[in-house]
Amino acid sequence: MDRFDALLKEASTHIAAASSMPALNELRVTYLGKNSAIIQALAGLRNLEGEAKKEAGARVNEVRTQLDHQIRQKQEVLEAEALAAQLAREAIDVTLPARPIRQGAVHPLMQVAEEALAIFASMGFRLADGPDIEDEYHNFTALNIPETHPARQLHDTFYLQGLQYLLRTHTSPVQIRAMKAGEPPFSLVSFGRTYRSDWDATHTPMFHQIEGLVVGKDIAMAHLKGCLQEFVSRFFGVSNVPIRLRPHYFPFTEPSAELDVQCQRDGKHLKVGEGDSWMELLGCGMVHPAVLHHAGVPEGYQGFAFGMGVERLAMVKYGIGDLRAFFENDVRWLEGYGAPAQRAPAIPERR
Ligand code: PHE
Repeated sequence: MDRFDALLKEASTHIAAASSMPALNELRVTYLGKNSAIIQALAGLRNLEGEAKKEAGARVNEVRTQLDHQIRQKQEVLEAEALAAQLAREAIDVTLPARPIRQGAVHPLMQVAEEALAIFASMGFRLADGPDIEDEYHNFTALNIPETHPARQLHDTFYLQGLQYLLRTHTSPVQIRAMKAGEPPFSLVSFGRTYRSDWDATHTPMFHQIEGLVVGKDIAMAHLKGCLQEFVSRFFGVSNVPIRLRPHYFPFTEPSAELDVQCQRDGKHLKVGEGDSWMELLGCGMVHPAVLHHAGVPEGYQGFAFGMGVERLAMVKYGIGDLRAFFENDVRWLEGYGAPAQRAPAIPERR
């Protein structure tokens, strides 16, 4: 027994009890650092001679080796524990079922708008655009609807309080903007949101329209009829769907008509292109000379225009009963009526 036995015993107890690397490092300083008893003893060897020096030296080295060994072993244990804890913390249960990947769908309205616009694009129409927030001039006045005209009331317009602006009640103001911005001839379509203060099974305060305009020399009602015949046949996928132009009134066209398609109604189902019923699909007519004048189109040009509700197109094509379903965002409904995502057909912009 020498004084080192007590030291070894005390150190072993502390090393065994060390619960972290910082604690262990402190013990290393205490027992093997510059001021530790063992290093001091090592320094003291220089005062000894011969056999005594040899013996003491061997003992001091033996104790130092033992302490060093114990500390290293403890370090390995602590590191293994830390790794095990980290692995437990970050464990992934690979037996859990994967989260389902839900595939989105194109809303039927957008699908129908893209189908319709692609047909018009292939017929040579270019896309034109206008703002949802319009002024009275473009939405009414330039379209030959003067201030006192009852049509202004008929439109159930949303006016922006205290301002000269309103939410456009139809896409027809795009006609005016496009004609003012360019030179005839024109053949353009526009698609966008429109607004009227209405809310029931067949009306929503926001809905969508597609507008068409063709202006050129010698444009006649026959061109209008031919163009719409082609569109309706391709849209419903029925060659030469019987259509009829029924006289109507719009302030911005003269003459004006509504276009009906032949259809069969049996109960809730509606089949386009057969049967003995007619269904109204869109409004159209020859652009009123006053409209061409407001838009700065020179004398000698005529044109035709048409406007249709996109919700109505979708309801007829896909047999959707209630207009409000389009805007309720019921995921089950969207999964049922939505089209698989695909790249939209490229529709050239108007220059
Ligand atoms: N703007 C009309 C409407 O909203 C539709 C229409 C457009 C009619 C162009 C004729 C010509 O009811």
